[in-house]
Amino acid sequence: MEAPPVEQMAAATLGDVATVAKHEFSDRVPIRSIVCRPDGGAGLAGQRVRVGGWVKTGRKQGGGSFAFLEVSDGTCPANLQVIVDCGVADLGQLVPTGTCVALDGVLKIPPEGTKQNIELRVEEVVHVGPVDPAKYPLPKTKLKLENLRDVVHLRPRTNTISAVARIRNALAYATHTFFQKHGFLYIHTPIITTSDCEGAGEMFQVTTLISDAEKLLKSPLPTEADIEAAKLAIDEKGAEVSQLKSAKTGKPKIDAAVAELHKAKENHSRLEERSKLKPGVLPVKDGKIDYSKDFFDRQAFLTVSGQLQVETFACAVSSVYTFGPTFRAENSNTSRHLAEFWMVEPEIAFAELKDDMNCAEAYVKFLCKWLLDNCLDDMEFLAKNYDKGCIDRLRMVGSTPFERVSYTEAVAMLEEVVKGGKEFENKVEWGMDLASEHERYLTEVIFQKPVIVYNYPKGIKAFYMKLNDDGKTVAAMDVLVPKVGELIGGSQREERYEIIRDRITEMGLPLEPYEWYLDLRRYGTVKHSGFGLGFERMILFATGIDNIRDVIPFPRYPNRADL
Ligand code: 4AD
Ligand code: MG
Repeated sequence: MEAPPVEQMAAATLGDVATVAKHEFSDRVPIRSIVCRPDGGAGLAGQRVRVGGWVKTGRKQGGGSFAFLEVSDGTCPANLQVIVDCGVADLGQLVPTGTCVALDGVLKIPPEGTKQNIELRVEEVVHVGPVDPAKYPLPKTKLKLENLRDVVHLRPRTNTISAVARIRNALAYATHTFFQKHGFLYIHTPIITTSDCEGAGEMFQVTTLISDAEKLLKSPLPTEADIEAAKLAIDEKGAEVSQLKSAKTGKPKIDAAVAELHKAKENHSRLEERSKLKPGVLPVKDGKIDYSKDFFDRQAFLTVSGQLQVETFACAVSSVYTFGPTFRAENSNTSRHLAEFWMVEPEIAFAELKDDMNCAEAYVKFLCKWLLDNCLDDMEFLAKNYDKGCIDRLRMVGSTPFERVSYTEAVAMLEEVVKGGKEFENKVEWGMDLASEHERYLTEVIFQKPVIVYNYPKGIKAFYMKLNDDGKTVAAMDVLVPKVGELIGGSQREERYEIIRDRITEMGLPLEPYEWYLDLRRYGTVKHSGFGLGFERMILFATGIDNIRDVIPFPRYPNRADL
């Protein structure tokens, strides 16, 4: 019997069995909609479907008379088990790990005693994207995450990287859901910026000066003879114009000759200009690189945070957030730092530090509950393979009030444990920045839950944070969570013009680039607060994966920027 056309097959109903819908924009049924049903797909037995995916494992059985394939299309952690008879296709071509297949067949209940609830009996192999197993870089056996970074273009095909991708996607959706639900506007802040938000000077520069200088290396500069020839051309064209004019030739001819003369003059001055350039050398003026020759007429960088720009909208439309890539050229080779990472930054007008902490806590809790409600199958996979406690941690954080302690209290607690014999690599004393070991000790050992540390010494925090009445601390807050340490950094912003102006100067930063930021205080200033959540840190925290390089699709860190 001939198979029915795909359109009919996609949602074929045989008798009274449930139907499974075809993907709306592709010629197949997503495997998720088969195996992720509460009945594991059993209720779909008898249905004719087309599926597509990549073979995770394949083996010939019954003396080569049929083959079992475990096929994944990445829509869920589970694979679909597939059985192909040797009469249907060349089994040898189908079984290698990594092979792409599109298959038509009928869903059947497998024999008793197997762990699957449903399997596909293949009637026709519609597509094969073969793989040479001797060359395929991903072996059937598990590679370490660290080694997978060398095949960043193929690692999405692994169970771990695809699970993380689904979780990352869910957290992004949850982020927008949370802020939209609370009336925040999503603002796209610039990637290229001319102001250093954190004032830490850890920015990647954006410039075309270097490629311009490089172009000069490739194309020869004009010689004196070239310039002389260009000058001669001007004289010739000039003479021609004069001659035409004195001969009272018609206007069109004279106009054409004048146009030629202009062209010759332009060519000459372009050559002169170029002859002054030196191959491979950046333009210099008064002993400094001359950025007025750069693309933007000034120095420009990749943003380290969208905060300053998003504040302009907070001071106009009240509740806003930005969610985008941020870049830091700090040379930290740690499992918690990337050179390119994503940050979620809400900013709220008419809000003080307490409101900021409340928002941060509600948002993190929302994310935790979202994963439990929407990604439990992926979370179970991670719990089994990476971090037994990750699901419990989400439950705990989703339902437990966060601890709140001042920096001064936190340091006193750490000093207490040091007295009790605990050793830290970094000395504990008031005024120090909390190191990761201190942060983790506070959240993992002392409180065993998320803790918000607030009111930090002004000397270790950015210029824009509101100075407290004690004159020593600023209204900053960091949310620390188990596994990760600092997940969120935020603050109430300094809204008083004179004070913030003096803080910028005090920190040795130039005022000029921040004049626009000061305008927000000069004109209609408002109390406001915000924070930044490191998106990859949130994924680390949720999944229990150890290294931040494995929770972003394309990690960038010192010496590495593949693809
Ligand atoms: O604490 P940070 O530096 O705060 C800001 O940038 C503020 N402008 C945010 C704001 O108030 N709108 O960074 C915020 C968070 C950190 O808590 C951390 O989770 C993450 O960003 N983060 C990094 N994540 C990965 N790699 C790095 N190099 C990171 N640096 C910071
Ligand atoms: Mg910070």
